[in-house]
Parts: sequence; C-alpha cells; structure tokens
Amino acid sequence: MSGPNDLQALLDEAWRHLTRGVADSRSPARYPTFATVAPDGIPEARTVALRGASRSQSLLEVHTDIATSKVNALQHNPKAAFHVWVPRALLQIRITTCVDIQTGTDIDQQWDRIPEGSRVSYGTQPTPGTPISDVYAYDKPSERDRFAVLRCTVLTIDLVHLGERHRRAEFRHENEWAGTWLAP
Ligand SMILES: Cc1cc2nc3c(=O)[nH]c(=O)nc-3n(C[C@H](O)[C@H](O)[C@H](O)COP(=O)(O)O)c2cc1C
Repeated sequence: MSGPNDLQALLDEAWRHLTRGVADSRSPARYPTFATVAPDGIPEARTVALRGASRSQSLLEVHTDIATSKVNALQHNPKAAFHVWVPRALLQIRITTCVDIQTGTDIDQQWDRIPEGSRVSYGTQPTPGTPISDVYAYDKPSERDRFAVLRCTVLTIDLVHLGERHRRAEFRHENEWAGTWLAP
C-alpha cells in the first residue's frame, strides 16, 4: 500500500497522467504548456499537444512546424519546460527537458501516422508569427519539410499535490529518479 510518504507512488501517478494525455484528448496532460527561452532571453510559453510519453526512456514528444519561434528558441537554447495542472488529482506537474529537434527521414514514421487533415498544421504561409494584411490572409498547405519532432529528454520532474497538507517532491534524471520531498 502506498501512503502519503511514498515518493515513487507520486511519480507513478504523474507518469500515468502523462501517458493518458497522449492517448486521451480530454485528459489535462494532452495539452501541456511548453516553455522555451528566446534568443533575447525572454521566456515564451504556449500550448502544445503531447504526442509521446515514455517513462522508460525519460522522453516526451511534441510535433511542430520548424518555422515557429519555439524551434528558433530551441536552436539557441535546447532547454524547455512543460507544465500541466490536473484539477481532479489536485496535482501540478512541472518538467524540465533538453530538446533534440528531429527532421528529415528520421521522422518518416511519425509523419506517416498523421491524418491528412492534420498535416496542414505544418507549412503555414507566410510562416507563423508573420504580420498579415487581413485576418485570413494565409494559406495552410501541408509541407512535409516543415514537420519536426521535438524529442524532449526529461531532466527533472517537480510535483505539487494539494492535499489536506500539501506535498511537493522533486525527481532528477541524474539520480536515477530517486525523489526528495521539498517544502511546498
Ligand atoms: C490546444 C492547442 C494545441 C496546440 N498544439 C500545438 C502543437 O502540438 N504543436 C505546435 O507547434 N503548436 C501547437 N499549438 C499552437 C501553439 O500554441 C502556438 O500558437 C504555435 O505553435 C506558435 O508558437 P511559437 O510561435 O511560440 O513557436 C497549439 C495550440 C492550441 C491552442
């Protein structure tokens, strides 16, 4: 039985939410906030869809368009953070990662699995964030060469559980995911 003092049970719960997020579009972990640091040092946060979560490989996966700001940011600084709030579990999940930007034939498998209708997320003209003369003055062709997979190696996980007494724990990759309680 796991009690409130069970660090690994808390980590298990966090990974359950992340794994569910990949499979279930109604799960809170489906749409984490993903934060990067722009070359000018300014933090940038945005919603993304969680496309992969592997506890054994300590990996999270996000799909994006290489022409977006987040890719430019990651080329300068590969560190990124994820944030998820799971209301029903009263659990905040904060994750830091180091991101590998994958393109080309390495990601054929992921591209093949994307439905035709969703491929238009990769290739917007003009490129995302460009000022346009009219609200709909853009096209969304599907451009295989603009598709990128962000392979995010998990470095740290910080969990806050709001209970009768709050609990906070941190887990680090470098410590083989041994956790430690923190003052919340
Ligand atoms: C619910 C939701 C899901 C989104 N999923 C993604 C995604 O998986 N990948 C992505 O690149 N952008 C996604 N976006 C768009 C981003 O939030 C963002 O607007 C866009 O990627 C440009 O971000 P950037 O200029 O900061 O790079 C999503 C937006 C919403 C509202």
